[in-house]
Amino acid sequence: MVDKIKQYLRTDSIGISIVYEEEVESTNLLAKTLADENVMNGTVVVAKRQTSGRGRLGRTWCSPEGNAYFTIILKPDVCAEYVSRITLVAALALAESIERVTDLPIQIKWPNDIVVSNRKLCGILTESKVGKDGLRYVIIGVGINANQEEFDASICDMATSLLNEMGEGVDIAQLIAEFLNDFEVCYKQFLQTQDLSLLKDSYNQSLVHFDKTVRVIGQDEIIGISKGIEESGALLLQMDDGKLERIIAGELSVRGLYGYV
Ligand code: BTN
Repeated sequence: MVDKIKQYLRTDSIGISIVYEEEVESTNLLAKTLADENVMNGTVVVAKRQTSGRGRLGRTWCSPEGNAYFTIILKPDVCAEYVSRITLVAALALAESIERVTDLPIQIKWPNDIVVSNRKLCGILTESKVGKDGLRYVIIGVGINANQEEFDASICDMATSLLNEMGEGVDIAQLIAEFLNDFEVCYKQFLQTQDLSLLKDSYNQSLVHFDKTVRVIGQDEIIGISKGIEESGALLLQMDDGKLERIIAGELSVRGLYGYV
């Protein structure tokens, strides 16, 4: 797997060091241990399967063999409050790289779900550690439903895989390498400004809900027309009176997507 990923890799720092395991609890967990042990910036942890894959909001991420599970360890000189922006950087790189490899029309659901045919294809879980001296590390965990044919009944209406969309299997090593190539380019652009000003137009072009009515469930429920992200990564919602509201965090649902009607 490592040799195959390296065959496709064209990066300067991301993925130069790869730690590969057949089975782990979670690549994010192993990445945190390695980051605490001071592995180099850009190290990527890849696993064939996970026994306790973790999703956002404390959910589990079902992780059978056949899909891609990996985590990038980053040690950026960035203000801790901007870490969540790196998740959007990863979402853009995922959408662009998977579209290039597969030719499928890949889209993003803010902030970081990757969607095809209105179903979720990938998830990203970003975690970080902050010490007295500021941000110690950021880890970006990515799961891509690649060669999975069947999903648990609880998610089978909401999830899909590249195999199901294309009717043929995909090379996970190529997918991971192409993502890392795109991620490095986008991440360098992010580091120039520490925001998404150089990336937001591409991100907004990939949004599945651009100019569509969405419902955001945060502390309150807000309904408005999605106008894409601004530099900070916040989603702009146009309200009935024409004013724009900035949404910083929350669960977003889009009519027709994942079954919301
Ligand atoms: C989500 O809930 O959408 C995020 C899912 C993230 C899953 C990936 S798989 C690799 C990495 N290791 C984990 O335990 N989780 C992330």
